[in-house]
Amino acid sequence: MCMHDDLMASVTATVDVIRTHTDRVPKVGIILGSGLSQLVDHVDAATVIPYDKIPSFPVSSVPGHKGELVLGTLAGVSVLAMRGRFHFYEGYSMQQVTLPVRVMRALGADTLIVTNAAGGLNTAWNVGDLMLIRDHVFLPGMAGFHPLRGHNDDRFGPRFPAMLNAYDTQLQAFARHAAQQSGATLREGIYAMLAGPAFETGAEMRLLRAAGIDVVGMSTAPEVVVARHGGMRVLGISLVTNIADPAGAPANHEEVLEAGEAAKPVLSALITSVLQQIGAEVANGT
Ligand code: HPA
Repeated sequence: MCMHDDLMASVTATVDVIRTHTDRVPKVGIILGSGLSQLVDHVDAATVIPYDKIPSFPVSSVPGHKGELVLGTLAGVSVLAMRGRFHFYEGYSMQQVTLPVRVMRALGADTLIVTNAAGGLNTAWNVGDLMLIRDHVFLPGMAGFHPLRGHNDDRFGPRFPAMLNAYDTQLQAFARHAAQQSGATLREGIYAMLAGPAFETGAEMRLLRAAGIDVVGMSTAPEVVVARHGGMRVLGISLVTNIADPAGAPANHEEVLEAGEAAKPVLSALITSVLQQIGAEVANGT
């Protein structure tokens, strides 16, 4: 899977397996983070494919991450949603972590909506707040754990893709509009990805804060990089599941899941509204 010749073969094989279940062409790929996966309960005409039926997919091992692909219609838009994602800290390579994004693209999706659970470094923020990701700092990527490292297959995208303005401004506008309509608090800021699985030390929190980072998590950046490599537009939403404060209590996975549970309705409403706006855009031919 990591050898360069095999990436296209893995993508093609995965597409072939999915095609034995459905011939749906998704427009939007959705990746759901810790505790957030019930968002897709309302997908209509759903085809559900457990990850263990997809030979090239790793099996998600983290509690709160159910492993299945759901293809169907949400708010009138054809979607492929991942219930549960693959994390680098589980031991998967960056290529494995991002394979589903390649698959979404190969199936026809041109838009990625990615959500995650994150620790808020800003002490003025609250658990349960949503944050529109304006940009990210991909710390493992900067240290060489990068999904595009190695041979570049030009069929996927360019050798040196730009990552400036990786998060689409139109989709951000849709998210702001959605939050205004529903009255949800939508913070905006910078997401930093750390490899995990350990939560941050106090010194690491202070370092990240000093660098202007608003929330910290263990996912998202690799998937966004690969989506941009493939020319998809991207919307990222973080759910603040805990406050990462050197003077506060240590974080734990249970509180992350609980906050995800509590935020489900608000996040579902936000994403549903964004999809409706994407649907309207398609209908207007823009
Ligand atoms: N740190 C890193 N990742 C996280 C956190 C955190 O505090 N909360 C949820 N994911």
